[in-house]
Amino acid sequence: MRILVTGGAGFIGSHVAEKLLEQGNEIVILDNFNNYYPSDLKRKNLDKIKDRITLLEADILEMERVKEAVKNCDSIIHEAAQAGVRISVKQPIKTSIINITGTLNVLQAAKEEGIKKVVFASSSSVYGKIHHLPFDENHPTEPISPYGVSKLAGEHYCRVFSELYGLEIPMLRYFTVYGPRVRPDLAINKFMHNAMKNQPLEIYGDGKKSRDFTYISDIVEGTILALNKGKTTSYNLGGGNKVTVLELAQKIKEITNSSSELVFSGDVQGDVQHTSSNTEKAKKELGWQPKVYIDDGLRKYYEWVKEAKNE
Ligand SMILES: NC(=O)c1ccc[n+]([C@@H]2O[C@H](COP(=O)([O-])OP(=O)(O)OC[C@H]3O[C@@H](n4cnc5c(N)ncnc54)[C@H](O)[C@@H]3O)[C@@H](O)[C@H]2O)c1
Repeated sequence: MRILVTGGAGFIGSHVAEKLLEQGNEIVILDNFNNYYPSDLKRKNLDKIKDRITLLEADILEMERVKEAVKNCDSIIHEAAQAGVRISVKQPIKTSIINITGTLNVLQAAKEEGIKKVVFASSSSVYGKIHHLPFDENHPTEPISPYGVSKLAGEHYCRVFSELYGLEIPMLRYFTVYGPRVRPDLAINKFMHNAMKNQPLEIYGDGKKSRDFTYISDIVEGTILALNKGKTTSYNLGGGNKVTVLELAQKIKEITNSSSELVFSGDVQGDVQHTSSNTEKAKKELGWQPKVYIDDGLRKYYEWVKEAKNE
């Protein structure tokens, strides 16, 4: 199969592309290497595979380039987005244009080129206000950040394109993903690097917020299962490791044998209090189950950070 991975130079996209290539597929990557975090890191993400893929350095907002990327592909994995809650609070219009109009461009190009399957990278941020935990896919969707709104709007466009034009579009609600090559703006990355230097770990709010951490290999497996078996519906992909920010900081300190102090600063607007996933639907319909327990995942991630520092 020839598969387009949008945002394929990013954290999740590059891992998905690598695995699909290993499985014998042809890969096209479309990514604009924007400077949300250093583009050098994104180029490095592709080091192992750059000679075996077709790379288009372009924006999902450029319709003609998207169509060019989609041509002759069998399916699309749409990972490109302005990720991150905090930046969406500061720049809601930017998030909206990339995540909503950009997604619409990808769907329209898919429709015009006769693509039948698109996997959409959504987010647990679509849930927002908590009615019950863990979140199942029928939990109300009341996002509390512009980022969450943009992903929910993306899901609605996916459903409507499926109903109007017959594309099959599984929507994956990823829960806080971590592991090698994690986005540098995420707390887990900052904690790890600072702990290794015995520098303070900065905790926003009181540290009692919790996240359901999901290891990257589980996300890659779920994304590829959705490509092969997913229907037009939302699936939670969460690791089942609900850990508070304080617990995360403690675990990282232990693993790195660090003497870092914990320092507390102001809360972040738009950040939900807790996330926790019920993944029964993905288990039943995709045959997916998370495999990596948080302590093991953190240790693997630590090993990778040490190796990457020595390169
Ligand atoms: N990492 C997580 O915990 C997490 C959780 C939930 C959902 N998601 C979603 O998963 C997807 C991948 O996230 P990630 O953590 O790998 O982020 P990332 O920022 O590492 O990857 C996104 C990639 O998309 C590219 N991109 C951004 N805007 C683009 C544009 N206009 N045109 C072309 N390329 C563009 C970026 O250059 C980047 O390489 C995103 O859709 C994100 O919203 C991530």
